Amino acid sequence: MRLYSLLAAAKINLYLEIVGSRPDGFHELIMVMQSVSLCDRITVRSIGVDEIRVRCEHPLVPADETNLAYRAAALIKERFPAAMAQLGGVEITIEKQIPVGAGLAGGSANAAAVLVGLDLLWNLGLTQSELQELGAELGSDVPFCVSGGTAIATGRGEQLDAISGIDTLHVVIAKYEAEFVSTPWAYQTYRAEYGDTYLAGVKDWQARQAEVRSGGMVRAVAHRDAQDLAQHLCNDFEKVVLPAHPKTAALKATMAELGGLGTLMSGSGPSVFTLAESEAQAEELATKLRSALPDPDLGIWTARFASSGVQLDG
Ligand code: C5P
Repeated sequence: MRLYSLLAAAKINLYLEIVGSRPDGFHELIMVMQSVSLCDRITVRSIGVDEIRVRCEHPLVPADETNLAYRAAALIKERFPAAMAQLGGVEITIEKQIPVGAGLAGGSANAAAVLVGLDLLWNLGLTQSELQELGAELGSDVPFCVSGGTAIATGRGEQLDAISGIDTLHVVIAKYEAEFVSTPWAYQTYRAEYGDTYLAGVKDWQARQAEVRSGGMVRAVAHRDAQDLAQHLCNDFEKVVLPAHPKTAALKATMAELGGLGTLMSGSGPSVFTLAESEAQAEELATKLRSALPDPDLGIWTARFASSGVQLDG
């Protein structure tokens, strides 16, 4: 086949703790990541010329080599030069549903889909963990976006332990379109304000990991206890992002009052989500949110928890 169409799922962070500063300049994290059914559609198509082309109609998504999806294709081309030489170049079409710059890993999900798509298009026969290793070279969230579902993520976010999630949960996600958070800024600000609380070395990080692995959030997921899960929602980035983004802080406060299970900012923000027990409850919360904040700049989406990251469409 000369064309593959894939769905690339967004992620939310149910738990995100910044633990320390790594020798490679990144931060050591402990996260519980969850795929949701809000997806972009990525199509990879063979073209006769030796080129990587990206097409996307979203005004905020670049079509050049700065796009992580382009970089995913360039990485595969570099590692498997014979495949592209034999089968031609690729055109990548991105149909965006996942809000951009939102803390939902939209760009990482697109890159993950390109890795999976090119593996199929160019008959590379890579395993999931080989695709994830390539993904880790592109960004810390890309390995999770390849496999998806529910996972405990440590290291930079690329060390993954899949766990059995609560697939019945639903979510309302909201973001002001004009609000953006730069992830490097969020990390730098966190380091400046909370660097003195960082745990110093690998032994301390491992001890903290063990605590989180046997702690409230992971236990709630394992016991499929949605109320308990909501009690343990946690995101360290809220401490620096919400004070700098009062509109997002107010959005979170409004969402928390609407009656869902629990409300949290995702990743480095500024998207905020509220968990719901059913699709009907999610739709009701979304309607209430629209009436409480009738600002046309506020994007609102509903989705369910998803058990995979990238999957073939159809
Ligand atoms: O890996 P990714 O491309 O998502 O990283 C984006 C930015 O966030 C980088 O500037 C990186 O330094 C920072 N980061 C970090 N610690 C992590 C992940 C990302 O400091 N675990």
